[in-house]
Amino acid sequence: MYQEIDLDKIDIHADPPLEEPARQYYFMAKCRKWVKGFEQRNGRLPKSCVLNFGCQMNARDSEKLSGILKQIGYILAEEEDSADFCIYNTCTVRDNADQRVYGRLGHLNSLKKKKPSMKIALCGCMMQEPGTVERIRKSYRFVDLVFGTHNIYKFAELLAEMFEQDRMIVDIWQSTDAIVEELPAERKYPFKSGINIMFGCNNFCSYCIVPYVRGRERSRNPKDILQEISSLAADGVVEIMLLGQNVNSYGKNLEDQMNFAGLLREVEKIEGIRRIRFMTSHPKDLSDELIQVMAESEKICRHLHLPLQSGSTRILKEMNRRYTKEEYLSLVERIRRAIPDIALTTDIIVGFPGETPEDVDETIDVIRKVGFDNAFTFLYSKRTGTPAAAMENQVEESVMKEGFDRVLKVVQDTARKRVALLAGRTMEALVEEENEQDPSLMTGRLANNILVHFPGEPSLIGQIVPVHLREYKGFYYLGERM
Ligand code: 5AD
Ligand code: SF4
Repeated sequence: MYQEIDLDKIDIHADPPLEEPARQYYFMAKCRKWVKGFEQRNGRLPKSCVLNFGCQMNARDSEKLSGILKQIGYILAEEEDSADFCIYNTCTVRDNADQRVYGRLGHLNSLKKKKPSMKIALCGCMMQEPGTVERIRKSYRFVDLVFGTHNIYKFAELLAEMFEQDRMIVDIWQSTDAIVEELPAERKYPFKSGINIMFGCNNFCSYCIVPYVRGRERSRNPKDILQEISSLAADGVVEIMLLGQNVNSYGKNLEDQMNFAGLLREVEKIEGIRRIRFMTSHPKDLSDELIQVMAESEKICRHLHLPLQSGSTRILKEMNRRYTKEEYLSLVERIRRAIPDIALTTDIIVGFPGETPEDVDETIDVIRKVGFDNAFTFLYSKRTGTPAAAMENQVEESVMKEGFDRVLKVVQDTARKRVALLAGRTMEALVEEENEQDPSLMTGRLANNILVHFPGEPSLIGQIVPVHLREYKGFYYLGERM
């Protein structure tokens, strides 16, 4: 596990070590020297800003980037305007994520014109797409550093190169087997943390770009995961989220005999950890053993995110999801029978090639039958290089939107009804922050992922407290601490 390493004791005039992570600590020491030079020239430390555009994995990667920047001496800033170094950790799962990045790059360009010493870096999933790098080379020449998902652990080394050179540095790998442990991370919240348990995805759902930009599935060693969680617990973390594109297939490529249910049993034993979450589960791989472990657990949150994508068996087949509508419904029934109070959330895509209004009716039928506590509904987005992008029967935008609106309405109605059932109950909330609008209120998260706002003091932040759910306001509760 990562421990404080005194960077000043590393001899940066020697050759860099070849093994990891020692090599990255060597480059961190080099970067720190650069930061000290900046301080001498400017009478202040440089500021850096890390922005993430994607999922929880992306957010966790950003914590690792921030951890390295902090180690080398940067002050971490929330926004770009005052930053001397700005890095965008991009996402490419849907086209609007790409467009957001291009839009904000325009703003960065104007900032850099005012402050030419500013450095700009781009990393993450979007950079793994060949077209993106070409576009950046051609039209965004003010960018200083571009790297991808496979070599993110080399951030310190790439930074050192960026400080030494005056040209755009591009380093994109097509794949990697390496899992480099023991690098620093700077958590956004002191009391909760994500933990990568696996990287990549082997499922190749036909609409999805993830397997192409994140590579093949690789599981981390259980020993490393458990050790990381133990030290997080020792550092005050009470809630953890185990992260992977498909956590239910954890362990398949490992020498140790360990599956996801087994890993959860081990995590449960770690003292200090009060809540365990995980993301994301693929319905095809969700085992009865996992349901049993969840039912027996005292720490695993009564919440399961189980992406449906579509309720039409025909479309599910085209999507290469490898379950039918009936199999999904029967899985939900098994889960609910074992864990009656579980909250179920999901992802839904509307407008996949060939989808008809009748297919959308099937999706709506599943939403009604399951009664999700929340559902993220997405318009299908064509991702170049995926099988679905080459399908001829792409759905017209107006038809897509019509289906989307119908789905959204049912999702909202059913979610509202389900969550409203909790009114009057007292549940445990992990207090996360002061309410943005009203500082007399604190915001807590229930095990089922619903937020509750209640009168309280900032000293409660990080504690798990019982809260009476008084009034349901549509997607969140107002309550009182009991
Ligand atoms: N278009 C729309 N939504 C998509 N997702 C993944 N790929 C696409 C796409 N091409 C959605 C899925 C997935 C979530 C993370 O993003 O619903 O579960
Ligand atoms: Fe994409 Fe499917 Fe893998 Fe999820 S499971 S990341 S939707 S390919």
